[in-house]
Amino acid sequence: LDVSAARAVPGVVAVLTAADIPGRNLVPLMIEDEPLLAESEVRYVGEAMALVAAETPEAALEAALAVRAEIEERPGVFTGSAAMRPDAPLVHATGNVPIHLKIRRGDAGPALDASVVVEDSLRTGPQEHFYIETLGAIADPREDGSIVLHGSMQCPYYVQRAVAAVLGLPLGRVRIIQTTTGGAFGGKEDVPSEVCSCAAMLAHHTGRPVKIIYSREEDVRRSSKRHPTEMRYRVGASRSGTLAAVEAEIIGDIGAYATLSPAVLFRANCHAAGPYVLDHAHVDTYGVYTDNPQSGAFRGFGQPQVCFGIETMMDRLAVALGMDPLDFRLQNLLRLGSRTATGQLLAESVGLEKTVLAARGRSRWDEKRRAGGRREDGLLHGIGAALCAYGVSLGAKGKYLDGSGAYVQLHQDGSATVAVGGTEIGQGALTVLAQIAGEALGLPIERVQIGEVDTSRVPDSGPTVASRTTVMSGNAVLDAASQIQARLRPIAAEMLDAAPASLRFAGGKAFVEGQPERAVAMADVARECFQRKVNLAADGWFQAPATSYDLETGQGDAYFIYSWATQIAEVAVSPRTGRVELLRVTAAHDVGRALYPDGVIGQIEGGIVQGMGYALQEDFRLERGRPLTERFSSYTIPSSLDAPEIETILVEEPWSKGPFGAKGVGEPAIIPIAAAVANAVYHATGVPVREIPISPELILRGLAERGPAER
Ligand code: MOS
Repeated sequence: LDVSAARAVPGVVAVLTAADIPGRNLVPLMIEDEPLLAESEVRYVGEAMALVAAETPEAALEAALAVRAEIEERPGVFTGSAAMRPDAPLVHATGNVPIHLKIRRGDAGPALDASVVVEDSLRTGPQEHFYIETLGAIADPREDGSIVLHGSMQCPYYVQRAVAAVLGLPLGRVRIIQTTTGGAFGGKEDVPSEVCSCAAMLAHHTGRPVKIIYSREEDVRRSSKRHPTEMRYRVGASRSGTLAAVEAEIIGDIGAYATLSPAVLFRANCHAAGPYVLDHAHVDTYGVYTDNPQSGAFRGFGQPQVCFGIETMMDRLAVALGMDPLDFRLQNLLRLGSRTATGQLLAESVGLEKTVLAARGRSRWDEKRRAGGRREDGLLHGIGAALCAYGVSLGAKGKYLDGSGAYVQLHQDGSATVAVGGTEIGQGALTVLAQIAGEALGLPIERVQIGEVDTSRVPDSGPTVASRTTVMSGNAVLDAASQIQARLRPIAAEMLDAAPASLRFAGGKAFVEGQPERAVAMADVARECFQRKVNLAADGWFQAPATSYDLETGQGDAYFIYSWATQIAEVAVSPRTGRVELLRVTAAHDVGRALYPDGVIGQIEGGIVQGMGYALQEDFRLERGRPLTERFSSYTIPSSLDAPEIETILVEEPWSKGPFGAKGVGEPAIIPIAAAVANAVYHATGVPVREIPISPELILRGLAERGPAER
């Protein structure tokens, strides 16, 4: 690596390589395999080898182009299955298969031998987040030896750890401030650690503020993708439709570095057998290095792939049994008191059956299922369903990260401020957390302000991922606000000459239950507390309920609670062009309790449209590891004009430990839709869908193989 020509470019302030890193040359994630700057090997197109800071972007670009690297090429490997072959070139000297997860329940082999069985191989492609705002950061070195980073991100405390490791600084000297973040979807879970570490390196060395904003192409090259998978499923049932066993092998292409793959594939593995009662399940999930860009976190986190696997196989099996696919599912699905495929007893908040029945009724499934096939418009019509269980939060794999803090302060005028480490990334966290604080303090939402996320001022809340913020940060806010309420209650009771237990707090007032005219404004209560020197600031905490899990058998309580969903898709397929149009989706979701129903519906609609892109049109192309679709013009995501008609049904089976009963919803919104679309296409055309995205070519080939006899 020769950077001398780059250093000589006018306007260049610094050119740094791995040798200039004062701390560890590492992006600290789950497996320590990724350097911040490549030293002896580059493993993907877009990997950083040197950092350039210049007075202008033009000079920086000129210098970057002047960096010379002599690279000896080794044979590449570009699919998970190819990388698992014994003679495959090694991406890392430690071997190509760093991750192997299992479910061993009962004895699937003999159970399948005695059943009606369907068996197939399935594939899913990568998906790129294409959030509107690209990655970026500003690093600002301070005279006191600390460094302040501003950036677009989900997890400021991850970034703090990364920057401190690279610079060799104590965590306390690294202050991370989340800027308003224009979309993330998992794509800003871990990757901002790299962006911020690069900016921090340059700022640290030059003593000057440094800004990095990725172009769209840089962003696409240097960010993670949804794991492409190759799956093999064998699913069997008795003639009367009782599910006997599921056998699955899931190969996830993790790309050049493991990043969050151990957690993503843990989630995939736990959910691979679907939301069904199963005495026998045998699942192997492998995470395999390849020379592709790294796979990482993307809304759904490993579940959209396995949901496509198990749910399309469930429809194939229903057809083989001559059963209606929803009747077949209703005969086998998880209910209160059932055990999951990991052996977990479901003790509360199991609304899956309600979601099936609601979606079935509202979509007029039975009638449309009978009417499938060619219509007067010349198109093939179909309707298909998919179910999902979603383990909320990090589960047994991330249990050490699963605590959340919150600071709440009630001010003298009866307004409040809240500080949490959970971030707003477009999902509506600000609204829900303000609602929760307001509800507990008796304040209207306008009187609650959520502060910016700054690691010097907010408690660590764990990462903003895994549909956990309403539950985790929400419970922490509730804890803090409840402590404050407990302190002011006796004083308000004294002011109202009432028993403390008879008081209610709502609408900016404290009042006697059942006698709303006996009221005092919260502002007056707060002022009185202040004068009596009562502390009206509190520190809240929520610790996730316990999980337990045996990695060898894949048995145990994988997650502390599950959200449930049924999505039904209606499609029209052109037999002439193979084009699939998604016409209508009926989505029923058990969210525990919808604290902000419009926000929940917005999440579900957004998830469905994003999942529709995954199912039908988002085709992320790689040529020997090099991305070919780096722009909005070559990688087309759905717009509002492409959105189907969506009807959302909220099912509320409250969870006793959720804030006011709530569970998570951000990810279940996207998980079932691709499988539901595939099942609708199968119903419309009789062509089994083995691959997403479902291209017109696949449909036309399938129809041609079926011959002219159309259903
Ligand atoms: Mo999310 S995909 O758990 O950041």
